[in-house]
Amino acid sequence: MRALVATTAGAPATLADHAAPTGHVLSAMWSSLNYKDALALRGRPGVLRSLPLVPGIDVVGRDPAGDVVVVTGAGLGERTDGGLAERVAIDPATALPVPAAFTPQQAAAIGTAGVTAALAVLALERDGAPDGPVLVTGAGGGVGGFAIALLAAAGREVHAATGRADAIGDHLRALGAAAVVDRLPAEPGRPLQKATWAGVVDAVGGGALVNAIAATAPGGTVAACGLAGSADLPGTVLPFILRGVVLAGIFSVDLPIARRRAAWDLLAERIDGGVVDRLTDRVVGLDAATEAAEDVLGGSVRGRVLVRIAP
Ligand SMILES: NC(=O)c1ccc[n+]([C@@H]2O[C@H](COP(=O)([O-])OP(=O)(O)OC[C@H]3O[C@@H](n4cnc5c(N)ncnc54)[C@H](OP(=O)(O)O)[C@@H]3O)[C@@H](O)[C@H]2O)c1
Repeated sequence: MRALVATTAGAPATLADHAAPTGHVLSAMWSSLNYKDALALRGRPGVLRSLPLVPGIDVVGRDPAGDVVVVTGAGLGERTDGGLAERVAIDPATALPVPAAFTPQQAAAIGTAGVTAALAVLALERDGAPDGPVLVTGAGGGVGGFAIALLAAAGREVHAATGRADAIGDHLRALGAAAVVDRLPAEPGRPLQKATWAGVVDAVGGGALVNAIAATAPGGTVAACGLAGSADLPGTVLPFILRGVVLAGIFSVDLPIARRRAAWDLLAERIDGGVVDRLTDRVVGLDAATEAAEDVLGGSVRGRVLVRIAP
């Protein structure tokens, strides 16, 4: 079968013939480029646990029974061959039918980014966010875009933090952002800042996350999803012990099926296909995915890059 294969540490993945998998195999229709996939495709360390391996942490495809299912994370494209291939072996216990609200293409556009945003919003709502605006960082990316739409659909006043306010401000407002603000400083400021946000969905990490925590209102929840800026957490415990701020870690890879279902139910309930299409920056073939990964890492993508396998 044709697949994008990473064979050598430090080198980009290339389109090649690869041994077809055995077991519970999907005929792949769509995949997508998450930040992790972009790292793996460009030969950057930290994602692929062994080589050679097929990247791609998401796949939508037809299972042996003929049903169209979606799998996100679950070790695809990290521990086992992933979604950027014509055939993909999956653990059927991690697969869900594509919700009726979405086409297979839209389910792939949601993918790990949308599931992660949904888990973050569920954490905010579980741990409680007081009244007031919610901050979404990394707003121009996949996780950020879905988080904006999910929160706005629930009537939340969303403040979208981006480094591209001029270029994508209208796009973020169309997703439901009430305000578009600059990225938070990457250097941590005072440990307790003016209580501004009732909750935060953060894709950036580092000093920006610490500043977001420091400006969260008493009782608010901060969902830490990503490290697009930094993996560091250079802060103090003061917001936790003086304001009762909750720091919720979000992990989308190994999820019990009930948590996966809860995330997809929230997505189907709150957003429609039009929102997903708005968040689709472009569609590429397997032959152009490694090149498109450069744009994902360079931060010029608006939302999601879809990979068409065989719809
Ligand atoms: N926890 C999990 O299970 C999980 C799941 C999915 C993703 N993630 C992580 O979440 C993060 C976002 O994923 P994604 O798929 O949304 O990626 P993405 O589409 O590439 O978006 C990342 C966004 O972060 C912002 N950004 C990039 N570099 C930055 C920097 N140096 N400082 C501040 N902001 C920066 C950019 O937004 P603006 O240009 O608008 O500022 C960019 O669009 C990644 O770190 C990813 O690994 C984690």
